[in-house]
Formats: sequence, structure tokens, C-alpha cells
Amino acid sequence: MNNTGLEHNQREQWASRLGFMLAAMGSAVGLGNIWRFSYVAGESGGGAFLLLYLVCVIFIGIPILMAEFTIGRHAKSDAVGSFQKLAPGRPYVIAGFMGVASAFIILSFYGVIAGWTLKYIVSYLTGQMGAAVASEEGVGAFFGGFISSPVEPIFWQFLFMIITISIVYMGVKKGIEKTNKILMPTLAVLVIILALYSMSLGGASEAFAFLFSPDWSIFTNPLDNTEVYLAALGQAFFSLSLGMGALITYGSYLSKNEKLPGAALGVASLDTTFAILAGLMIFPAVFAFGIDPAEGPGLVFVVLPEIFGSLGFVGTIVGLAFFFLIAAAALSSAVSLLEVAVAYFMRRFNWTRQKTSILIGGIIFLLGIPSSLGLGVMDQFTYIGERDFLDSMDFIASNIFLPLGGLIIALFAGWGWNKTEALKESDFGDTFLGNAWIFVLRYVAPIVIFVIFLQSSGILKILGFEL
Ligand code: PFF
Repeated sequence: MNNTGLEHNQREQWASRLGFMLAAMGSAVGLGNIWRFSYVAGESGGGAFLLLYLVCVIFIGIPILMAEFTIGRHAKSDAVGSFQKLAPGRPYVIAGFMGVASAFIILSFYGVIAGWTLKYIVSYLTGQMGAAVASEEGVGAFFGGFISSPVEPIFWQFLFMIITISIVYMGVKKGIEKTNKILMPTLAVLVIILALYSMSLGGASEAFAFLFSPDWSIFTNPLDNTEVYLAALGQAFFSLSLGMGALITYGSYLSKNEKLPGAALGVASLDTTFAILAGLMIFPAVFAFGIDPAEGPGLVFVVLPEIFGSLGFVGTIVGLAFFFLIAAAALSSAVSLLEVAVAYFMRRFNWTRQKTSILIGGIIFLLGIPSSLGLGVMDQFTYIGERDFLDSMDFIASNIFLPLGGLIIALFAGWGWNKTEALKESDFGDTFLGNAWIFVLRYVAPIVIFVIFLQSSGILKILGFEL
């Protein structure tokens, strides 16, 4: 097998269309759907956030997802190389570089949180979690003690990164595609069982009300709710793996016979279903036990084990299954994050896949150590507020880099590329849907992203807009 910087003819490819679909879905479904979605939705008031999030997915997410698949499959290169090929010498390539940078930033903290889930799996198995639940201080103290230990979180982050690196090391077919073929069906079964179980606990009607009856003031009073808009946009990008070329990279391993619009719709629908199922799995339990849904990032790691713990032996099994589910979902997404950077460096420096995965994966592990240690960030970054290092990395990448990357990708596919060619490559052809797609890429997506940026940076208010 040739594993050096692959050019066109020897470029790796998915073995099957199903393999590609599962890998793209594996990238989308991850910590974003369970850990991030539940705490951001909880903090942002539930229903209104969910509605804004769905609007962002449908009107911005799916069209940009299509753009990424189309660009990748046509250019057959990584996030940077694709723009260099299709628009040589033009500034669009900045989206590619930002994408590779985002892969480093996101995977650095993603590996930390995924590491926590591994720790939880092992704690359930060894009975450590049972003891924590039974103790007077409870799971909060257990979690706090664990994440503030100087070494332990780094160990679990390291372990998670080793697994991620090994999969990327094995290549597109034997590593990424094979792993996703096992993980994705497992995830689907687990999430459904856990959601049904959680709804049987008695908090289902409150959870439904929380998730599905929006507080309309968010729409009548947008300038007072700017964080919710930015949070919904950022969450849509994060959850769909958009705006950083992950789906350009996965699309580049695709042969011509996949129909892209169907694939894009499939990935987005499954991702959204997973987020809603995760909500239905988490919030009923939260309400059944009278816990505040705005608990924050600890929601999944403190509240749920506490709840599971009170359910006796069944709770232990459910807890184990739950953290296994998150770890597995995180793995398939982490693989796609690492692949964005590996694909770029492999081609750029003509390194082997093996060398690149170890080197880049190793660097990302090191970059994650400050997040693992929970270091604080100076307060002068007022827009970041009081966040620790991990939160700041997440905020910068998800709410700024990804939407900005998506904006540039939309501008490229809408304006920078020849329309006829874009339509042909997308498999839409010159149809109503195809033209609607181009219209969204040209006007809707860029304007909405731009306005949400203006709004959340407070500029609209300064300009005197009072909506
Ligand atoms: N979509 C992943 C999740 O929801 O957890 C995170 C992610 C993966 C973001 C890959 C970006 C990316 F390129």
C-alpha cells in the first residue's frame, strides 16, 4: 500500500457508499450532541434555543454541508488543498487554514472531555462510582476532585488520543470506515434504549415542555438575547462538523457515484435526531430529580451519575451504557477532527500517514494539557467572560472560527465558483432546489452569519437598532 502524500490516482477512497455515510454521521454525532447540546440548551432556556438551532441547521447548516461535500469530492484534496486547487491565488484558502487551526483547537479540548468519559466507564466498572454516589459529598465532589487532579485527567486524555491516533493511522478504509461501521449502529441502539428508559422515570412531560415550548420573547426581543442566537449558530456548526473542512476532507475520499444532496440531508437529519434524543434522554431525568437544567458543563458528568446512582443496580448498568455511548460517539468525531489536520500535513510535507498521525496527534495532545489542567483565562478578554481555558477554546473555535469558516465556504461556493459547475458537481443540476441552494449560499447564509456576529458583538446596539 502506498502511504505517502497521496496524489490523485493513489488517493485513498471509501470502500462503500454506506461506509462514507456512516463516517460522515460518525463525525457529526459526538460530544456535541450529548454533552454540549444538553448543557447549552439547558443554559439557553430550552425550547427557544432548540427552535433557533433547527432554523440554523436547515437554512445554513444543510446548504453549507452540501457545499463542503461538493468542494471536497470535486477537488479531491484536503481542506487547504481543495481551495488551492479550485481557486488558486484567491483568498478563500483562508477557510482551509482556519479549518486546520480549528481542528487543533477543538480536538485539544475534545480529547479532554472524551477522556473524562473513559474515566467514568472505568469508575463504573471498578465500583468507584458506586462509592462516590453513596458518599456524603456525592458525585460533585468526585468529579471536582478528578478534574482538579494534576495528572489523572491528562492520563485519560492521553489514552483517548492514543485510540484516536491509532484509527487515523490505519487509514481511510481500514481505520476510519471500519470503526464507524461498528460504532454507529451501536450508538443508535444505545441512544434509543436510554431515551426510552429515561422517559419512563416520570420527568418526561416537563422535559417535553422545556424542549418543545419556546419562550417567544427571544424572537420579539432579539437584541436582549444575543447570546442565545450565537449559541444556536455555534452549536449548529459544531454539531454538524461544519465550517472547518472536515466534510471537505471526507468528501474528498468519495467517488462520483454518491448522490450528495441525499447524503447531506441524511447526515443532518441523523445528527439532529441524535441531539433531540439526547435531550429526551437527559432532561426527563433532570426534571424527575428536580435538578436545574442550567447546571452547565457538569450536567452530564455530575447530575446524571447522581440520578443513575439512586436507581440501584439498574442505574449502574445504565450509567455504564451512557458513558460508553458518549465515549464511542466522541471517538468517531475525534477521528474526523484529526483527519482534517493529518490529511493536510501529509500532502503538504509529503509525510507518511503513520508519521503524520503520530506527530500531529501528539502535538494536539500537548495542546490539550492546559484544558486538562483546567487553567483559568485572564479576565481582560471580556467577551469571553469568566471562562476557563477549555471553555475559551470551545467558545473561540465553535462560536467564531466555525461560523466564519462556514461564511467563507458559502461565499466561495456561491460566488467564487462557476455556478454551472457548482450545480453540476453538487448533483443538484439546474433545478429549483439547486438554484435555491445557490441563493442560500450567496445571500441567506452569509447575511445571517454576519448579522449574528454583529448582534452578538453588540455593534447593532451601538448603531442604535432597537428591535
Ligand atoms: N460534530 C462533532 C460533535 O458534535 O461532537 C464535533 C466536531 C467534529 C466538530 C468534527 C467539527 C469537526 F470538524
